[in-house]
Amino acid sequence: MKGIILSGGRGTRLYPATKAVSKQLIPLYDKPMVYYPLATLMQMGIREILLVTTPEDEERYRQLLGDGSQWGIGISYCRQPRPEGIAQALLLGRDFVKDRSVALILGDNFIHGDGLYQSLARVRDHTTGAINFAYRVSDPQRYGIVEFDAAGRPVRLVEKPAKPKSSWAVIGLYIYDQRASEFAAALQPSARGELEITDLNQRYLDLGELRIEKLGIGNAWLDTGTHDSWLEACHYVQTIFHRQGQMIGCPEEVAWRSNFISAAQLEKLAHEMRASTYGQYLKALLA
Ligand code: G1P
Repeated sequence: MKGIILSGGRGTRLYPATKAVSKQLIPLYDKPMVYYPLATLMQMGIREILLVTTPEDEERYRQLLGDGSQWGIGISYCRQPRPEGIAQALLLGRDFVKDRSVALILGDNFIHGDGLYQSLARVRDHTTGAINFAYRVSDPQRYGIVEFDAAGRPVRLVEKPAKPKSSWAVIGLYIYDQRASEFAAALQPSARGELEITDLNQRYLDLGELRIEKLGIGNAWLDTGTHDSWLEACHYVQTIFHRQGQMIGCPEEVAWRSNFISAAQLEKLAHEMRASTYGQYLKALLA
């Protein structure tokens, strides 16, 4: 399975914080926001990743993430000239994905939890159809939602409904088989001028090939799209770190625990960052 991180968009809801820098590059507590979805993909065992960015931000992402070899993975880059929809990432990434299945994740999606890692492990061998993850929220009108029938089967996906019939939001992590780019190419732009990921998911649902994995209360899917929700997400990461001594969204740690890199490589990365608590955390992993 390959991975795509979509880090496009202007982040206007966070202005002026994101006026001169891409939203997914600003820190969430102690590390850039994009580290979190990157670590999630790596946790799924994905080692070939395409980062889709705005043209202005590509260079900064390259400075931050390089070619991924420091973490035993491969990262390549692709530009999205205008924010024309999440599904467009699958068109831009068509040659990258080729005939493989793909996990598409949004660069500002923060997910964490034990149940999540079990769910992710279950999808690793995914070969046909699509998988969406759903999370119960108090403000479903802000998201794509999934409606279920009495038997709990998904029947309809609706993007930002004014009067939601379900509280289950579809989170920004999508798993597809090798037909995703082909299906995305057949989509028409929505009223807001975007190729909607919800339309692509609906296509799989119409074919009877969409599976929904519900994430239970032991998981956190946090929004980072407003100043307050961003700060809440920062506090969440800080709280877990202080209470459990466990970092969330640390690509170096995932790389080392997954045997993508050796202890000696981790030691080198820790040394480069020894002045920060982040570097000291990496060093302590080896103790
Ligand atoms: C997008 C999707 C929506 C999904 C959400 C998750 O919304 O269109 O279906 O629930 O991401 O973060 P947007 O960020 O474009 O408002």
